[in-house]
Amino acid sequence: MIKAERMLKFSMLRPNRWEHGSAFHWLFYSNFVSTPAPWNKNGNFYASGRDAFRALILYGQASRGWKRLWIPSYYCQEVTKSFLSTGIDVAVYIDGPEDNLPDFNQCKFKLGDVILRVNFFGLRVLHPLNKIIKKDIEVVDDHTHDPWSSWAWSSDADWCIASLRKVLPVPDGGVLWSPKNLPLPPAVSVTNVRRVASLENFVAMVLKGLYLANYPLDKDIFRNLSISAEKCFAIKDISGMTEWSKSLLTSFPIDEWRELRRRNYKILSVELANIPWLTVLKPEDDSSACPFSCIIVFDTPERRNYVLQKLIASHVYPAILWPLDVAIIDNIPQKHVSLSLRMLSIHCDMRYNKDDMKYVSSLIYEFGEKYIRKV
Ligand SMILES: Cc1ncc(COP(=O)(O)O)c(C=O)c1O
Repeated sequence: MIKAERMLKFSMLRPNRWEHGSAFHWLFYSNFVSTPAPWNKNGNFYASGRDAFRALILYGQASRGWKRLWIPSYYCQEVTKSFLSTGIDVAVYIDGPEDNLPDFNQCKFKLGDVILRVNFFGLRVLHPLNKIIKKDIEVVDDHTHDPWSSWAWSSDADWCIASLRKVLPVPDGGVLWSPKNLPLPPAVSVTNVRRVASLENFVAMVLKGLYLANYPLDKDIFRNLSISAEKCFAIKDISGMTEWSKSLLTSFPIDEWRELRRRNYKILSVELANIPWLTVLKPEDDSSACPFSCIIVFDTPERRNYVLQKLIASHVYPAILWPLDVAIIDNIPQKHVSLSLRMLSIHCDMRYNKDDMKYVSSLIYEFGEKYIRKV
């Protein structure tokens, strides 16, 4: 358990502009490595995960008769919105990060159906399709939360997608590949809208790095750029990935960064173990997993909201992945709405060292305990 003296020690070690979470800043690294990736044999690059998805869905509608996409009931609503923009019907099957397997029991599949399967937060392993579904239906995997997982490497899906900008410090990027070497949609060029989005994002990342290094900069400047870039990423026309992001991708020390993510996840999960009002979601296979973030689940939405508000006041910015109480599609089970109201995604990537992780854990514990005393 986290002791008050230890917490004081960590807090005194924080540099002036220390903060945790939110968007990547540009980080300098010197060990340039070209890391193999599951898409190396055949991959198409896009400006975002949503662009990759929409390119594939439009292609599937035009050339493979896709009419309806089945998505897990626990899924990002912004991404779902982009699916709907293609004109495809969207239906849900029951699956979420606390479930063991997708549940297709209630699904009445028909010709023209395609299924989206998701490696939630990089916590899952591959469950072979012939064991979980008896029908011959085309399947797309979303590997955004760990594009280098063993599941991504050995997927039995027809196509796989990952948003690269969510796991790597690139200002834009998404990738689509087919583990079965099926055809991909024709490659697309970079649109002006996405070029501007990427440039704005890159400037935001660099300025955030300078801000964290104590340069005299106002935070709103990079935050506004990043907000403006996100708006541009939501505009319809599908775009390729910019040449600078593609180029950076070839030099990132992926294995080292995954190792740091794994280590940081472990620190958080150990520090936050055995707390009666909190659960940490665990990977199915601890030895191979490299979770996207540390998913913590509170006993009540009220305690989650209280801790979140206190964390933000302490410069810790977790994410809610994903808000489902304002869903744009029907049939989301109450258990998933409840999970989304009680969870926080705590960043554990390569930006952070062991002390950062311990400090963030100590804050979560302190605020969560304070909440008990309040009621
Ligand atoms: C699991 C998952 N898939 C896809 C996406 C879409 O990525 P992008 O924002 O690059 O379109 C996201 C974005 O948050 C995501 O979390």
